[in-house]
Amino acid sequence: MRLIFSFLCVLVLSSYAIAYDPLDPNGNITIKWDVMSWTPDGYLATVTINNFQTFRHIMNPGWTLGWTWAKKEVIWSMVGAQTTEQGDCSKFKGNIPHCCKKIPTVVDLLPGVPYNQQFTNCCKGGVVSAWGQDPTQSVSAFQVSVGQAGTSNKTVKLPKNFTLLAPGPGYTCGRAKIVPPTNFLTPDRRRKTQALMTWNVTCTYSQFLASKNPSCCLSLSSFYNETITPCPHCACGCQKKKNCVKNEAKILSMVGVHTPKKDNEPLMQCTHHMCPIRVHWHVKNNYKDYWRVKIAITNFNYRMNYSLWSLAIQHPNLNNITQVFSFNYKPLQPYGSINDTGMFYGMKYFNDLLMEAGAKGNIQSEVLLQKNQDTFTFKQGWAFPHKVYFNGDECRLPPPDTYPFLPNSAPTSLVNFKALIFSLFLLLALL
Ligand SMILES: *[C@@H]1O[C@H](CO)[C@@H](O)[C@H](O)[C@H]1NC(C)=O
Ligand SMILES: *[C@@H]1O[C@H](CO)[C@@H](O)[C@H](O)[C@H]1NC(C)=O
Ligand SMILES: *[C@@H]1O[C@H](CO)[C@@H](O)[C@H](O)[C@H]1NC(C)=O
Ligand SMILES: *[C@@H]1O[C@H](CO)[C@@H](O)[C@H](O)[C@H]1NC(C)=O
Ligand SMILES: *[C@@H]1O[C@H](CO)[C@@H](O)[C@H](O)[C@H]1NC(C)=O
Ligand SMILES: *[C@@H]1O[C@H](CO)[C@@H](O)[C@H](O)[C@H]1NC(C)=O
Ligand SMILES: *[C@@H]1O[C@H](CO)[C@@H](O)[C@H](O)[C@H]1NC(C)=O
Ligand SMILES: *[C@@H]1O[C@H](CO)[C@@H](O)[C@H](O)[C@H]1NC(C)=O
Repeated sequence: MRLIFSFLCVLVLSSYAIAYDPLDPNGNITIKWDVMSWTPDGYLATVTINNFQTFRHIMNPGWTLGWTWAKKEVIWSMVGAQTTEQGDCSKFKGNIPHCCKKIPTVVDLLPGVPYNQQFTNCCKGGVVSAWGQDPTQSVSAFQVSVGQAGTSNKTVKLPKNFTLLAPGPGYTCGRAKIVPPTNFLTPDRRRKTQALMTWNVTCTYSQFLASKNPSCCLSLSSFYNETITPCPHCACGCQKKKNCVKNEAKILSMVGVHTPKKDNEPLMQCTHHMCPIRVHWHVKNNYKDYWRVKIAITNFNYRMNYSLWSLAIQHPNLNNITQVFSFNYKPLQPYGSINDTGMFYGMKYFNDLLMEAGAKGNIQSEVLLQKNQDTFTFKQGWAFPHKVYFNGDECRLPPPDTYPFLPNSAPTSLVNFKALIFSLFLLLALL
């Protein structure tokens, strides 16, 4: 009963406060501006993008950051990033700014740019790791020299209306806020310096804003029932069905198929679920004190290699995970004491890249869990996960009444009773 109620709370919460993620309630991306010096007509700032999300990274083709200048600012120069357009700088004679647009659009530089265009933590093509996966790579930064801007903390006006594509939509950024100035240690760590002024912008993710359909689904099977519970039909929406690839042989000979499109529009293998990613959870073995699960991730998108992929899973037995084969694992504790959520991700240079659809677009792992004799059961779908996220997006799960049943444990009456209570609560909550 309490479980149902807390689930309901989460449900209600997540549908109202759209940017709330129950598995990563404190996750956000912050954009920090540190004014390092005042210049004759403006300032020189270091802009740092920190990804504090536990399991949502910024993947290829990277972030795009925009804002609206408060006054008539221009960007004299940039190091470690660039604006995509210069805009109209015709009123400048002699020294021409890097960008004169009222709403500049900034992207990271690609790896391998000349040394003098580089800046600490720049030039990764806008790819930023998730904090939980690799905190050292969860930051991106560039330097910007702003002109016509005000030359003291009294006259400068903060930029407004920040927008972040990372790489697609989904993020909402708040207003820039003046915060206590950042402290910096010199490389020899013997002297501390301080920014002249610092402001922060916080951006949060909402899957509803990113896309109206999920981008992955879950299928299930078990050793005790030969039924394979497939992903729900059209789990990710069937609008793309008309463009999907039926015959692999034909598509493989086409030119340019394997190049991602700018808008990341997928080119998918035809499936009944039409998801670019399918996660499969197979309950493989039952031992006396342990049980074993096989997890497989399949890529159905011909236009995407998923680098730095991650899989976040919620299952009550993850508090007793004993061994994980060929994936990395990290327990997540969004609520401190409840230890039922964890993150799986690839091993560097081995399987951290999930290749495009086809023969190699598949990775798998096995997980050994110790039974907690008080709670362990194969009944009523207990052995299957409650939530699954791939790359930070929640996957669609099959309806519980289609899960593989333990023979002779017809759970119908109980399930229906629970469903009844649940819908009653739902009704009450919505009234
Ligand atoms: C952003 O995330 C960090 C790290 O989880 C957290 O400390 C901070 O409070 C968050 N900021 C906001 C505005 O939620
Ligand atoms: C501003 O952002 C930085 C990270 O970029 C963070 O460490 C700091 O706590 C933030 N300050 C506030 C007041 O949120
Ligand atoms: C502006 O700078 C002065 C010192 O130069 C400092 O006392 C003041 O707190 C600063 N104001 C802001 C908003 O940073
Ligand atoms: C904020 O920026 C977006 C995109 O740059 C733009 O479409 C929108 O009109 C801006 N809103 C305001 C209030 O300036
Ligand atoms: C994926 O990676 C392989 C090997 O690095 C490459 O040949 C292929 O073109 C890539 N596909 C895409 C869609 O980027
Ligand atoms: C949570 O589960 C992990 C994985 O079994 C374990 O290593 C960790 O100690 C647990 N933490 C707590 C607080 O129980
Ligand atoms: C793991 O399972 C064993 C046996 O049931 C139990 O004694 C132990 O407390 C469990 N560990 C956690 C972190 O729940
Ligand atoms: C296997 O599970 C399905 C539900 O997915 C159920 O209809 C079927 O009766 C089960 N098979 C056995 C042998 O219990």
